[in-house]
Amino acid sequence: MHGLHSKSGLPLIAAAALFCVAFAGWCGHEAAAASAATNASTNQAIAEATPPALAQQGQLIFDHTPKYAKKYVGNTLTCNDCHLESGTQAFSAPMIDLAGLFPMYSKRAGHVITLTNRIQECFVRSEAGTPPPANSKTMRALVAYIDWLSRSGVKGKPYQGRGLVPLPALTGDPVAGKAIYGAQCAMCHGVNGAGVPHVFPALWGNNSYNTGAGMNNPSKMARFVVHNMPQTHPGLLSPQQAYDVAAYIHTKPRPKFNPVYKSY
Ligand code: HEC
Ligand code: HEC
Repeated sequence: MHGLHSKSGLPLIAAAALFCVAFAGWCGHEAAAASAATNASTNQAIAEATPPALAQQGQLIFDHTPKYAKKYVGNTLTCNDCHLESGTQAFSAPMIDLAGLFPMYSKRAGHVITLTNRIQECFVRSEAGTPPPANSKTMRALVAYIDWLSRSGVKGKPYQGRGLVPLPALTGDPVAGKAIYGAQCAMCHGVNGAGVPHVFPALWGNNSYNTGAGMNNPSKMARFVVHNMPQTHPGLLSPQQAYDVAAYIHTKPRPKFNPVYKSY
């Protein structure tokens, strides 16, 4: 299995790259899926090695955030609910080779940020919480974990599966999205969007991300969903359907972003 993956790896990357050049606007998720398959063996090697103790603690926090970073979390979401496979899955904003890209300019913050700042940003927005201080055990452990996942990276060079898959800018129809939600999402995330705590994450309501989070941007959610959801059948939705369901979810209530944290 391993051998097969790595042998077919290079041609797949090339095919994906060609595809993206040919369809400049939308690097379709067939291409993304091909590169994800290519990355699978690399990711497995990264996941299988034993990290140092502090990084192991970081992974526990990453996978069970409300339990191990309780003080800083305002909802029931783990980092792992959005950054899949403990932050190692391509195109679910993975942590692989990420540390070497910082410090970097952040449009949202309006200044240059460190990896610590970027983690704090997800705490005050996606975790609807408060920023763990740079010298806290929580932050040092999370940084150690991301450093560990970045150990084979080259400084300044992004991982091939970084971020989310690109999609053209479409307009979602929340009415069509409601029907898609009922048919493809509600069985896990609940008709009321509340999910099942610690099993299926909340998509709206008190236990979800707040209005300042990346997921609250419908095009970002569409790019996440088109490649990663429904969990048991990713790739099922067309780009338009992903926008529709994201538009529907966007009409629902959620915690308000605290403007005190707008520089994060
Ligand atoms: C509700 C979903 C969600 C949760 C929960 C979440 N994040 Fe994120 N995170 C995102 C999104 C969306 C992005 C932006 C991805 C993009 O635009 O490419 C992001 C980006 C990041 C980045 C920058 C990635 C890059 O490629 O630049 C880091 C680091 C990060 N998150 C860390 C964390 C950590 C640590 C936690 C837990 C404490 C966490 N996130 C929880 C959704 C989430
Ligand atoms: C089979 C169960 C299942 C189905 C069906 C499903 N999801 Fe998920 N979803 C999950 C799980 C579990 C996670 C947490 C990440 C993981 O473990 O894969 C998740 C994570 C998410 C997240 C990021 C976390 C958050 O709370 O924001 C979003 C957004 C999301 N799903 C949207 C959808 C949408 C939209 C659909 C329908 C098109 C859908 N999901 C269908 C199980 C499911």
